[in-house]
Amino acid sequence: MDCYALIGHPVEHSHSPFIHAEFARQTRQALSYRAMLAPLDGFPNAVRMFRAAGGRGANVTVPFKLEAYSLATCLTERAKLAGAVNTLTFTDEAIVGDNTDGIGLVRDLAINLSCPLAARHVLLLGAGGAARGVLFPLLQTRPASLMLANRSIGRARELHAAFAPHVGQTAFAAGGFQDIGGRKFDAVINATSASLANESIPLPDSVFAPDALAYDMMYGAGDTPFMAWARKTGAARIQDGLGMLVEQAAESFALWRGMRPDSAPVLSMLRGKQQASHR
Ligand code: ATR
Repeated sequence: MDCYALIGHPVEHSHSPFIHAEFARQTRQALSYRAMLAPLDGFPNAVRMFRAAGGRGANVTVPFKLEAYSLATCLTERAKLAGAVNTLTFTDEAIVGDNTDGIGLVRDLAINLSCPLAARHVLLLGAGGAARGVLFPLLQTRPASLMLANRSIGRARELHAAFAPHVGQTAFAAGGFQDIGGRKFDAVINATSASLANESIPLPDSVFAPDALAYDMMYGAGDTPFMAWARKTGAARIQDGLGMLVEQAAESFALWRGMRPDSAPVLSMLRGKQQASHR
């Protein structure tokens, strides 16, 4: 049986083993997928041992996505632009590093939420690894404008410079939260880690255009502070990042197995679990 794993620290609460087991069941693929805790200083060794034991591929999560980028012997274009790797595929000759996070977000928005970004006005919050990981796929959807706003303006400007060659027709701007001014957006995507620390982001109350979507890339039981704030300030739709998690997994599965699973039933099972744990 082909073996896959999620390698991270921590990994015990991850939904990925459940998601991949469901994908395998649905597509009748004989494979195993387990969560593997690697010591903080032991990621390369964990990968080496897993590969030597016959592992075919791995997902990589916090805090190892940059190390996975360095460890890969060959990188896809989107992984290079993301500067991080969340999917490794082992072949006889190579460790191929890819990044499916951004396409996972884009597919969740376009397919699950019927919110394609083409010709829309988008505000992306954050300029850390999570924001960098999704920027190229977001720009590829050809929004009319994309504003990158971050607490530290310098980091936003650095990302802006790095991605400027890839903007196409999109009006791409970067700045601090105070630079948002009175602008309104059709989609506001939170890629900061503020929700992890249960912190709010100091944003103007007027950022949502009519019918706007507020999207937090985090997920958990109940609203994050960003989602609660969006509810109060007029976002028409508010969504967490559970769909992005399922979609990035579906993309990894498709890379490994050459077939795309149906993500919708797996996402609704996870929503059921999420609601049960919230009650
Ligand atoms: P990740 O890999 O999750 O993106 P990171 O690279 O440490 O983690 O980046 C965290 C991001 O969340 C940064 O954009 C950070 O802003 P700064 O660059 O100014 O540090 C942002 N962030 C974290 N806590 C925040 C808060 N309370 N309010 C606003 N932004 C916050």
